Amino acid sequence: MMRLTMAPFPRLLVAAAAAMIVGILASGVAGLGEDGGGTTGYVRVFSFGDSLTDTGNALRLPSTGGGGPASRPPYGETFFRRPTGRASDGRLVVDFIVEALQLRQPAPYLAGKTAADFRHGVNFAVGGSTALGPEFFERRGLKPFVPVSLTNQTIWFEEVGQLLASSVYGRRKIMASSLFLVGEIGVNDYFIALFGNRTVGEIKTFVPHVVGAIRSVVNEMIGAGARTVVVPGMIPLGCEPQLLALYQGGGGGEYEPESGCISQLNDLAELHNYALNRALVEVRREHPLAAVIYADLYRAVTNIVVSPGKYGFKDRPLSACCGDSGGAYNFNMAAFCGTPGTTECADPSQYVSWDGVHFTEAANRHIACSVLSTSATWPSAAASRIGCV
Ligand SMILES: *[C@@H]1O[C@H](CO)[C@@H](O)[C@H](O)[C@H]1NC(C)=O
Ligand SMILES: *[C@@H]1O[C@H](CO)[C@@H](O)[C@H](O)[C@H]1NC(C)=O
Repeated sequence: MMRLTMAPFPRLLVAAAAAMIVGILASGVAGLGEDGGGTTGYVRVFSFGDSLTDTGNALRLPSTGGGGPASRPPYGETFFRRPTGRASDGRLVVDFIVEALQLRQPAPYLAGKTAADFRHGVNFAVGGSTALGPEFFERRGLKPFVPVSLTNQTIWFEEVGQLLASSVYGRRKIMASSLFLVGEIGVNDYFIALFGNRTVGEIKTFVPHVVGAIRSVVNEMIGAGARTVVVPGMIPLGCEPQLLALYQGGGGGEYEPESGCISQLNDLAELHNYALNRALVEVRREHPLAAVIYADLYRAVTNIVVSPGKYGFKDRPLSACCGDSGGAYNFNMAAFCGTPGTTECADPSQYVSWDGVHFTEAANRHIACSVLSTSATWPSAAASRIGCV
């Protein structure tokens, strides 16, 4: 009896749910024609992060006086042929993803003002930005590099939303057809403490806070209507020429035999990534209709560091391309790339690290390719458009 009377209802529900999903998918693609976007279902990108993603915000921050190394040559020399504020010799991961999906460059938030400036997407990432707000650091006697955290970036995002559409419905429609990149972010939270002489043990206690801040931005974006959110994880901190040079001659503990990277710093990055992945599992459970994609930057970079030749890199993956031409890592904080007297390597495409802190365009391409290979969300032609092999 029970089964006979109940049966039609679940079937109807399934049909209704299926219709809803088809509707959602269709509306995700609907913006394509009107905005002249690519063939991917996404019309624009909204991105959040730090110098690994910043395409021109830190440059425009009043507190940096328009400066920062990335505002000077030889930054940008490989691709843009001029400094653009990107902390690399050329394109960043976000540039390659935008290119692979045939989208327009998102405007750096601080370079725009009007709805027209922002309609093709916005990059909120700021070099030096932290995930956590200044209070977190001040309470611990530490000082952030720049007055920007993920909180500022999400406030900017809300302001842009208000500009782009006056109704909640209009905004949700825009967000549904946009690709979101939340990160990498968090590296500066750890750097600030490392340069403040804190032990890795103490810094590990930051991880749940940093990951919590990332998680709340992902939730906020999904709440605003986002359907696809890419969340890059932490880079292998122990393979950074800057930190290798800082701890050279002691204090850094053991080195990994395979890579030559500092074990306890890579452990910190892995702890972050483990906690982030656990958080994303919960986000997916709370929002089953959203695609939340983890991008494994850690593996993408350590793969090159361990076998540089296999990926077309020179056999010195822990040495910066641009620096003071000295030391095992070619990194000296007092002679940072772009300051007088520094030189760059002959071929940046053979180096992983551009300036000891940030990646070369070649490494960024490799990372973007690895992002595009980790999810079925992307159209099959995307990776080949940016020369992934
Ligand atoms: C970010 O937010 C903090 C706290 O509200 C504020 O003091 C700071 O000026 C903001 N930064 C920018 C660049 O607007
Ligand atoms: C960290 O320690 C080094 C060496 O002991 C010292 O020179 C430096 O001033 C310290 N930095 C901070 C921020 O306390």
